[in-house]
Amino acid sequence: MDETTRLMIVVILLIAEVPAKGHILDVCASCHRNARCDDNSDGTGKVCNCKYGFVGNGRTLCVDKNECQIGANNICGQHTNCQNTYGSYYCTCLSGYSPSNNMTVFIPNDGTHCQDNDECRFRGLCGRGAQCRNLNGSFDCSCKMGYEVHNGVEPFNSLRDKAYCKAVDCGQPASVENSVLLSVTDTTYNSMATFVCDEGFVWRSGNSSSVCGADGLWKGPNMVCEEIDCGSPPALPHSHMLWNKSSRMGTKVVYQCNSGYHNVGKGNVSICTSAGQWKRPSMRCQDILCGDPPTPPHTGRVWNGSSRPGSTVTYYCKKGFYHSGGNNMSLCSVNGHWTTARISCKAECGPIPFLAKSEVIWHNGSVVIYRCVDGYHSWRGSNVSVCGRSGQWQRATLRCIEIKPPINHLSVLNEKCLHWRAEKYEGDKEVYKVTYIGSRVFDRSFHDRGKRCLSSQAQQLELCLNLLPITNYSISITALSSRFTATISTNTSLTVPPAPVVYYREFETPLPTLRLRRSPNTLDPISLYQVFVLPVEGIMMFDCSSPASFGLSIKIKSSTEYITAQFDVRHVRTDMNFTVGDGLYYGGYMNAPLENGKNYYIILRAVSQWKSTLKGSCVMWAKIRGTSYVLRASSLSAAASLGLVALAILGGYCFTCYGRWYNRVYN
Ligand SMILES: *[C@@H]1O[C@H](CO)[C@@H](O)[C@H](O)[C@H]1NC(C)=O
Ligand SMILES: *[C@@H]1O[C@H](CO)[C@@H](O)[C@H](O)[C@H]1NC(C)=O
Ligand SMILES: *[C@@H]1O[C@H](CO)[C@@H](O)[C@H](O)[C@H]1NC(C)=O
Ligand SMILES: *[C@@H]1O[C@H](CO)[C@@H](O)[C@H](O)[C@H]1NC(C)=O
Repeated sequence: MDETTRLMIVVILLIAEVPAKGHILDVCASCHRNARCDDNSDGTGKVCNCKYGFVGNGRTLCVDKNECQIGANNICGQHTNCQNTYGSYYCTCLSGYSPSNNMTVFIPNDGTHCQDNDECRFRGLCGRGAQCRNLNGSFDCSCKMGYEVHNGVEPFNSLRDKAYCKAVDCGQPASVENSVLLSVTDTTYNSMATFVCDEGFVWRSGNSSSVCGADGLWKGPNMVCEEIDCGSPPALPHSHMLWNKSSRMGTKVVYQCNSGYHNVGKGNVSICTSAGQWKRPSMRCQDILCGDPPTPPHTGRVWNGSSRPGSTVTYYCKKGFYHSGGNNMSLCSVNGHWTTARISCKAECGPIPFLAKSEVIWHNGSVVIYRCVDGYHSWRGSNVSVCGRSGQWQRATLRCIEIKPPINHLSVLNEKCLHWRAEKYEGDKEVYKVTYIGSRVFDRSFHDRGKRCLSSQAQQLELCLNLLPITNYSISITALSSRFTATISTNTSLTVPPAPVVYYREFETPLPTLRLRRSPNTLDPISLYQVFVLPVEGIMMFDCSSPASFGLSIKIKSSTEYITAQFDVRHVRTDMNFTVGDGLYYGGYMNAPLENGKNYYIILRAVSQWKSTLKGSCVMWAKIRGTSYVLRASSLSAAASLGLVALAILGGYCFTCYGRWYNRVYN
């Protein structure tokens, strides 16, 4: 309450008491403005008492009471400050404390008091590595294990002091003698470093690890490493060693076989291992012996049987061989081997070999070169003979063969097949081309051409051609790969002409008409058909070959048989009808009428003639029966007659001969 407010309250009080003053002695009116008018405790009127917070007589004096002067502890309670005000006071808490009513000021009459603040509840207040301790009205900090205070002493107040905690650092761990650091986790408190014994040393006792203490010092290690010692290296038989007298790990000892011995095992070094032992080589020193001396080809030797170093062997060439060079001695050397004797023994093969149809063009006693003599040529094989190691000639395989045309001994067999000999290399295939052309002087338009090919590796060849009769042929054979042509001329002879197809019949008329059918033939220009009439009487003979019956001028031998007609085959059509006994002339022959009542056979003869050669074939064409005639024949003619009838029925012409009747072929 400020001064102005207090004055106003006093004025209001004065106004209220003024009317009463005028009437009675009003005690109350005389009270100090900072006093109250109270009833007297004994009930005798009123009394002025200074208001709370003021002290005085109540009428003339009521001055502010300084409540705090009795001490803050007494009025506000512990850990307080007391602040007097006009007519009153208030309390605040000392630093480090706070009022229990959570206000900034208080009057202790409601029980409010100052209680301690727990500063440690603010984490990190003391900083890293420090621990906080709450005190009444305050706190302090001290360093945790493994941390040290810097810039001050413990305990410290982190808000006030510059002190702070810092982790201890043990630094690089130090090793004990003959050991090395294997690993280290860190250099801070409780970090661990591990050590091992140095190379060449082995652990004997103690702890191999070290721990960083809170005082910043490593504790340990305390192990003891002892040096490895392999002792003296082992002795190996028949050997001595080169050794520097050290028996530490890794030391090497070299062994050497004593003189006269050599190592037949493996390795010659022993080494001191980490196990503290010498690792032995598998060497073995043995007496040096060269063994049996080698024998070069074709040699004999002179040797005293010793195979110790320094021994010698002398070689010589065996019989049939001569020493052609190289040294002839071998020595047993200190490394246990015989030195190589480079003696060379060559065979003596004797006189140079002979080769048929060849001559020697060069030789030097061990190599011979040949060539074929004139008129022969080389045909396969090597032309060199060589004297072999075994003393035998490896003979030249050359073959000399006579130089001949590739087609030889060309001939024609049976007017049909060509034969020749091939002069060529065995196994080689040759292709032959054969062409032929045939001609006839009697037929200028006639040409028989043909071509055949033959592939063969044979030596003797045959090729049969379909050559036509009575033709002059010129035949050429060409061996295509050797481009050689041989030519031959040949004649074919006259063959029997084919008889025409006749229709055999039996007639009972003196004017029978007979029929035939023919196929054209290349021999037609020199062929004739002749019709024979044979009166049937007694035993009958008909000779188909009789040249007498051919040609106009020739008389018929038999008194009764005769030619009644003759045709040039060229002029005969495919079909022909001929009537026997019509009285006309055919080919110069009179076709005389047949006698009534007589029996006849009619025979058709086909004839081919070239120059003096004549070939013919006959066929029974018809039988004519006179009405009064009875066949009276001997057993032979009866058989012939039966045969004829049978044949005629079979087809009308005959290739086979019955007796002399159908002697078709003659020469
Ligand atoms: C003969 O000649 C051949 C080939 O030139 C040669 O290798 C060989 O040594 C010679 N032989 C002799 C005995 O001269
Ligand atoms: C074949 O030739 C010879 C001689 O030139 C000749 O006399 C003969 O008539 C000829 N033969 C044929 C069937 O042409
Ligand atoms: C071919 O015929 C003629 C005459 O006819 C004869 O002189 C010649 O010898 C015949 N040739 C052969 C190879 O028969
Ligand atoms: C031959 O006679 C037969 C029968 O009478 C007849 O059919 C045929 O045409 C004749 N042939 C000729 C070439 O006259």
